[in-house]
Amino acid sequence: MKTRLYRAAIAGTGSFLPSGRLTNDDLAKMVDTSDEWIFPRTGIRSRHIAGKGENTSDMAAAAGRRALESAGVRPEDVQLAVVATISPDSPLPACSCLVQTKIGLANATCFDISAACSGFIYALDVARQFVETGAVETALVIGAEKMSAITDWTDRTTCILFGDGAGAVVLRRAEEEAGGGVLSCATGTDGSLAPLLFIEAGGSALPTSVETLEAHRGFVKMDGHTIFKHAVRNMANIAGKAIAEAGLKPSDIDWIVPHQANIRIIQAVAKSLDTPMEKVVSTIESTGNTTAASIPVALDLAVADGRIKAGDNVLFVAFGAGLTWGASVVRWGS
Ligand SMILES: CC(C)(COP(=O)(O)OP(=O)(O)OC[C@H]1O[C@@H](n2cnc3c(N)ncnc32)[C@H](O)[C@@H]1OP(=O)(O)O)[C@@H](O)C(=O)NCCC(=O)NCCS
Repeated sequence: MKTRLYRAAIAGTGSFLPSGRLTNDDLAKMVDTSDEWIFPRTGIRSRHIAGKGENTSDMAAAAGRRALESAGVRPEDVQLAVVATISPDSPLPACSCLVQTKIGLANATCFDISAACSGFIYALDVARQFVETGAVETALVIGAEKMSAITDWTDRTTCILFGDGAGAVVLRRAEEEAGGGVLSCATGTDGSLAPLLFIEAGGSALPTSVETLEAHRGFVKMDGHTIFKHAVRNMANIAGKAIAEAGLKPSDIDWIVPHQANIRIIQAVAKSLDTPMEKVVSTIESTGNTTAASIPVALDLAVADGRIKAGDNVLFVAFGAGLTWGASVVRWGS
């Protein structure tokens, strides 16, 4: 039996995409590929790439500041900041600690969550429980990645997919009767499938060495074909679970804001929920896969351009390395 004292309402959104761009034509000069191969298979035409010295914490801080501004919340009023990332500035300390200093979240407890492309939903799920139990009133949830730093730019099977960026939401305590807020979160994990999508070196099992650098073992490796199938199945299942836990039907969902991995995965998930693509928010053509940042970046865009309005039921759904997956239904507040 789940109980909550309060609702966690999304009071503001923000995002940041670096100005550097890399098109499919640019990639075709780096590896044996082409726009004709990439676009039909992925829906990606270009991606944003952070500059030298433009770090994950900088992008996270920029997105976080914008979310606080849009919520009308002062940095010192944030009590919890959770950053979802697999590309922190460095292994130690947590990226969220650097973000705290950059934004001035003087009174926040800060930690990171590592759940790859599902990271934003995992972070939202953790933070909303702090709010729902009354432990905190205001939380900042950020997804931020500098994927370009952990991508093998000589591997055409992965380097075409990823991009950099950050997105954020502010959660605020609301009364249960208020109507708006996070209605449900559902998550899942299957660690036995970890070898399908992983970075081998750079951790304690295989620290970075001359050998790992020369063999490119510190970059993302993926069995894309198998990942594709797991992504569609798990995203469809977990979306159904989150919708049911929210007490809704798929037809009650006004907007799907999915993880932006591949337009064909997004289309398959929308089809499984019998939802037309007009109700799906996609940024993939110009962002590629920004891992934990992809949902809050897409969300911020759809809120800013007026697509998502008060009273709308919005579904977030994601899948990533781990394997991990998650979904959340949010009723948009006023
Ligand atoms: C990566 C992905 C686009 C590859 O598409 P695919 O249809 O599965 O392609 P395959 O991996 O089966 O490769 C097909 C052929 O294209 C080639 N190929 C792979 N990448 C290529 C590229 N960038 N350009 C040109 N050819 C390429 C392969 O070498 C292979 O050639 P072969 O048949 O001669 O061996 C697709 O599998 C995918 O999107 N998977 C999900 C990835 C993902 O979203 N990961 C993150 C999850 S959160």
